[in-house]
Amino acid sequence: MPIGKTIAFLGAGNMAEALVKGLLRAGVAAPQEIVCTSRRKLRGDELTTRYGVRFTTSNVEAARVADLVVLSVKPQVMNHLLDEIAPVLDSSKLVVSIAAGVPIEAIERKVGHGVRIVRTMPNTPALVGAGATALAAGSHATDEDLSQAKALFDAVGKSVVVDEPLLDAVTGLSGSGPAYMFLEAAHRDRGAPGTPEGPGDEPRRHRHRGPAHPGGRRPADHAHGRGGGGHEAGEGARPEVPRPRRVTRKSGLAQLELYMAADM
Ligand SMILES: NC(=O)c1ccc[n+]([C@@H]2O[C@H](COP(=O)([O-])OP(=O)(O)OC[C@H]3O[C@@H](n4cnc5c(N)ncnc54)[C@H](OP(=O)(O)O)[C@@H]3O)[C@@H](O)[C@H]2O)c1
Repeated sequence: MPIGKTIAFLGAGNMAEALVKGLLRAGVAAPQEIVCTSRRKLRGDELTTRYGVRFTTSNVEAARVADLVVLSVKPQVMNHLLDEIAPVLDSSKLVVSIAAGVPIEAIERKVGHGVRIVRTMPNTPALVGAGATALAAGSHATDEDLSQAKALFDAVGKSVVVDEPLLDAVTGLSGSGPAYMFLEAAHRDRGAPGTPEGPGDEPRRHRHRGPAHPGGRRPADHAHGRGGGGHEAGEGARPEVPRPRRVTRKSGLAQLELYMAADM
């Protein structure tokens, strides 16, 4: 379902490109509604040729025209980026960060109070449209903001709203989960990637297509009756966004369980 917003990706690298691809494929945004930035004009040529999106080397210009600003630079570049764009951010814009390990409070401190922020933690399978993303709301983000941010990540897999303290646990799970699946598949077939070809290699290659399951519904989708929101959420329906209020041991574990189910 189109969200009808101009979306800027500041730092259009691998993850931003995966999101752009997913958004276009799912019809969440049209090419002219997406503007990407990078310091290299050559990267802009790649993106405009592949997707027909807009490109500028100016983060300020992109943030100025966008309703929804995705911070997709590496974490170590984040402070510099925030200093640059803070003057054009205000409460009319939704800011979505995908940077690992950068707390909402650090972003809010840089851009000033009142800015609506959603912090997210996507994972590598998003690159093949089978990601599992956790999202947490900043102090000024509304349920509608969470819903819009969710629409972005449902275009590249599934997403779950959690409390921010749990994003670090999700980062651990996301980072090691896909690698664990590869390792486990390799061990189960009594061979590691790179070992000589043998009779067991066809099934092994099949499993090594990834924990990502590109292009297909996963068993967990059916088992849990989840449409995943976005393009899978039924025509015209905006996904219901459960928004946790405070973390207790019980609610934290329940949220992580939900996330892990989405990551299956
Ligand atoms: N990849 C993953 O699986 C994954 C998973 C979870 C979270 N993340 C998060 O996603 C973010 C991006 O990761 P990535 O893997 O997509 O990295 P990436 O491919 O290196 O993308 C970062 C992009 O930022 C651009 N950039 C650097 N400085 C810039 C600046 N001042 N202004 C505008 N653009 C700038 C770089 O291009 P130029 O050098 O051309 O400027 C580069 O294309 C990170 O914060 C990471 O923590 C990634």
